[in-house]
Amino acid sequence: MKLESTDVFRYTSGVPTKIIAVANQKGGVGKTTTAVNLAACAAAVGRRVLLFDLDPQANATSGLGLEKIDGQSAYRVLLGEGALLEKVQKTEFEGLEIIPSEVDLCGADFELARAEDHLRRVGRAMQPVLDAARFDLVLVDCPPSLGVLTLNAFAAADGVLVPLQCEYYALEGISMLNRVMSQLHDNGVNPRLELMGVVMTMYDGRTRLSQQVVGEVREHFGERVFETMIPRSTRLAEAPSFGKPIIHYDKYSPGAAAYELLAQEFLARLDGQSK
Ligand SMILES: Nc1ncnc2c1ncn2[C@@H]1O[C@H](COP(=O)(O)OP(=O)(O)OP(=O)(O)O)[C@@H](O)[C@H]1O
Ligand SMILES: [Mg+2]
Repeated sequence: MKLESTDVFRYTSGVPTKIIAVANQKGGVGKTTTAVNLAACAAAVGRRVLLFDLDPQANATSGLGLEKIDGQSAYRVLLGEGALLEKVQKTEFEGLEIIPSEVDLCGADFELARAEDHLRRVGRAMQPVLDAARFDLVLVDCPPSLGVLTLNAFAAADGVLVPLQCEYYALEGISMLNRVMSQLHDNGVNPRLELMGVVMTMYDGRTRLSQQVVGEVREHFGERVFETMIPRSTRLAEAPSFGKPIIHYDKYSPGAAAYELLAQEFLARLDGQSK
């Protein structure tokens, strides 16, 4: 058989799409940087990845170089209008697609709170995306709160990935996050839900503080903490302003290497769970 030049071989695992929520109610800890770069690295090794921007700040959307366009977020779908698959957009990076966000998602927390079955809106909207089997992995970038949007992501997810910044109060609020996850797990909203991993971000090996925080976090979470730590790096902070993940902005930087390694560990853990 002659292959057309447009034929592309992509990895397909044959296992169901995994949904991982990237969450921490604390602001500025590296959720979006991790969601965007992990998504890009997983796509670069052949996974079919959907990045779901569920934060009204829309940082993941602009971080991948997309404009915020009225009506393109999941907002209306979550309120019952239209289909989520219609909101999926291609990015300029092969294997990586996105459901963008825009500021209208702000209203969702308030409006959904009053709606019936309000915790399952994302899960229900995701079902046709899962049925279409177009993606191996969906990463959900959550807002910095434990509001209705984050709870919806938890209710739909197979696991939660928690970025923790290497700073003094890293573990503050984590017990609340844990409690919310256990409640959703135990009361039957999502019996699959588990903490799939913790990633240390903005690590600075020269400071005792970073080392001390990592020690404490490892003591607390044990093997849930990924070996790979993300270093503090200006290049990582610059990349979003160029609308690019780090592996496409500065492929040979330490930040790119770290997210590539993290992706390897992350995917191995994800594949292990599927067995
Ligand atoms: N490893 C890093 N080194 C240097 N700067 C970083 C690193 N990771 C993230 N940043 C920067 O820190 C800021 C916060 O990161 P990011 O937006 O990923 O956090 P967040 O948890 O998603 O924030 P929010 O809670 O507002 O959604 C951004 O300006 C980002 O560019
Ligand atoms: Mg963010």
